[in-house]
Amino acid sequence: MTGVAGPRDAAPPSHLPVMWAQCMDGLRVRRDGRYLDGTFGRGGHARGVLDRLGPEGRLLVMDKDPEAIAIARELAAADARVAVRHASFASLGEWDEAAAGLDGVLLDLGVSSPQLDVAARGFSFGKDGPLDMRMDPTSGESAAQWLARADEREIADVLWTLGEERMSRRIARAIVARRGEAPIERTGQLAELIASVVPRGDGKIHPATRSFQAIRIFINRELEDLGRGLDAALSALRPGGRLAVISFHSLEDRIVKQFIARHAKAPAGNRRMPVVQDFTPVLRDVSGALRADAAEVAANPRSRSAVLRVAEKL
Ligand SMILES: C[S@@+](CC[C@H](N)C(=O)[O-])C[C@H]1O[C@@H](n2cnc3c(N)ncnc32)[C@H](O)[C@@H]1O
Repeated sequence: MTGVAGPRDAAPPSHLPVMWAQCMDGLRVRRDGRYLDGTFGRGGHARGVLDRLGPEGRLLVMDKDPEAIAIARELAAADARVAVRHASFASLGEWDEAAAGLDGVLLDLGVSSPQLDVAARGFSFGKDGPLDMRMDPTSGESAAQWLARADEREIADVLWTLGEERMSRRIARAIVARRGEAPIERTGQLAELIASVVPRGDGKIHPATRSFQAIRIFINRELEDLGRGLDAALSALRPGGRLAVISFHSLEDRIVKQFIARHAKAPAGNRRMPVVQDFTPVLRDVSGALRADAAEVAANPRSRSAVLRVAEKL
């Protein structure tokens, strides 16, 4: 946020880059380095990296979202150091520019504010729109298409495992009953349906919050992509290169934390196998779990749940 120029003056609701200063510190950008921002969004973090790169540096950017990519292409047209690829960061190893070696990889996970704010993207239970939720609406199945065909058990499992929704079975049953009467095609319809079967609790969060999160993570294969992206980033990083990942919920953070630990620390011995041999760390845990400070949380409530982890390739 601090010191970042607005990516595009005419852009609709702009995205506030979360934990921007800590990311820049963590990446320790070298002027002649090659960096990859796998989640370009509106380019707040990417611009911070570019500002720190010299004329010999290179910034590769990826995003699943065609709207984000359109803005990245404008940036690339104005700055020859920037290269753009419309794809999931899970496939970064298939991009020869990235496979050539990287000095840093940044992943700022999840959805961007513009995706949440625009009703037509179908991410928000607060704004009625088509029930889509795809970061890349040009490929794969929308949330409405999946809810129209999935069986009750599968829906309940997704709500439980990806949303930790205790009422998962009740909600899945209601969805299957309702779609027998009429297709569920709007975010407003789904939010109302969930609210009608889930007690409001303490009233702090909308009763559809957890279900919407779960369906979004499922539709975009977010956890699978994260696992593949971390492996690919580790392969592409050069010695001394930095990996910085911002997560927004515990399922993501657990994957990042365990990934770093697995490559940084010898697994603890146990009674059956007391001595673990031949472990060579390939990562160093640089930061542990970093959180946004109080001033940032006050200015940008979305940063409240952010956890940044930084690791260095050895
Ligand atoms: C939180 S925003 C990133 C904001 C960005 N750091 C900025 O400063 O504007 C997340 C972005 O990552 C994209 N995204 C999420 N998962 C992705 C993936 N697996 N591959 C590529 N892009 C992804 C989303 O489409 C969204 O644009």
